Amino acid sequence: MSYAAPQGPQAPAIDVRSDTVTHPTAAMRAAMAEAPVGDDVFGDDPTILALEARAADLLGKEAALFVPSGTMGNLVSLMAHVPRGGEIIAPAEAHVFNDEAANYAVVAGAGMRPIAETPEGEMPIDAVVDAIQDSGDPHCPITSLVVVENCHAHTMSRPITPAYVARLRAALPPSLPLHIDGARLFNAAVAQGLPVADLVRDADSATFCLSKGLSAPVGSVVVGSADFIWRAKRARKLLGGGLRQAGVLAAAGIVALQDGADGTVARLADDHRRARVLAEGLCTQEGIISPGHLAQPVGERLDPGRVTTNFVLFAVEGGQTRRAAYLAALRDRGVGMVAYPHGQIRAVTHRGIDDADIEAIIAASGEALAATRP
Ligand SMILES: Cc1ncc(COP(=O)(O)O)c(C=O)c1O
Repeated sequence: MSYAAPQGPQAPAIDVRSDTVTHPTAAMRAAMAEAPVGDDVFGDDPTILALEARAADLLGKEAALFVPSGTMGNLVSLMAHVPRGGEIIAPAEAHVFNDEAANYAVVAGAGMRPIAETPEGEMPIDAVVDAIQDSGDPHCPITSLVVVENCHAHTMSRPITPAYVARLRAALPPSLPLHIDGARLFNAAVAQGLPVADLVRDADSATFCLSKGLSAPVGSVVVGSADFIWRAKRARKLLGGGLRQAGVLAAAGIVALQDGADGTVARLADDHRRARVLAEGLCTQEGIISPGHLAQPVGERLDPGRVTTNFVLFAVEGGQTRRAAYLAALRDRGVGMVAYPHGQIRAVTHRGIDDADIEAIIAASGEALAATRP
């Protein structure tokens, strides 16, 4: 890990727990220092306005809204689309359902109807259509939103295709909105070699994160129609997410989305390549097995072919106890990975991980497996 800035006391030297650990680039820090700012709650921050305009343009939508996090981006989208008591259809393993502290219920006052997704992260369209409730029966919640996650984290962060989103959109009633949780939308675009706008063309709204693989320190952006963004902005205010001179944060996001050497979108391809190399190294090691569940449903061995973006999900023989020991042994060797649901282990490549780090992780894994062999 080659950051000039010192790591926090808890951070492992080679940190593949998540792509959220990325530090801002030198160009981002310079832009943050220079950024013209104003009070964004009054609509006066030129740097926020520039980021929002750039994001709306890139994603092909009318308007955009800067928010502090992906979680808030999804929540304001739910609040803008869904009336209290409405129901949201989402993939069973979706972040909005499992990993946002049930904010859909606690804050948005909505219900969630999970649909089991395929190993490609797609809810079967027939199942979605079957789950829609709009009969007028007073017993039933009214389906008010459908959510797709792209990349879909639990499938080894596989990208969802625009063709699937188009088919899903065509099967839904025109008045039922479709939201894309695109925390890693740019990974999905780069992996498929497509303009990011193609991935959200058939969605009413989308969020993407600036502070994951794109390396900005803070922030996400929500996009959609001007009317939707107005409602999302009200929800952001309600949640305490109306920030003041936040242009210092948005400036880093503008750099991330730039074309050319300072932008951090095109380089995501390096993370994807390194994740594949990591999986190729791990899969031959005695004791490393398929992650199972959605990430690789069949096969004993970890299949590097399942790696298409920057997540490597796998498991170790020996269950939960061995997993904890393996993670601790990796930590002792300066490598940070995390336990993931369904008995899995997650490693995520990002801008702070170079080719030498990948080699070092593979070597540390071999030693950790030997040290924890039953
Ligand atoms: C798929 C997905 N959606 C949303 C989020 C939430 O983003 P944040 O951590 O910025 O709240 C994450 C975070 O990891 C995520 O993986």
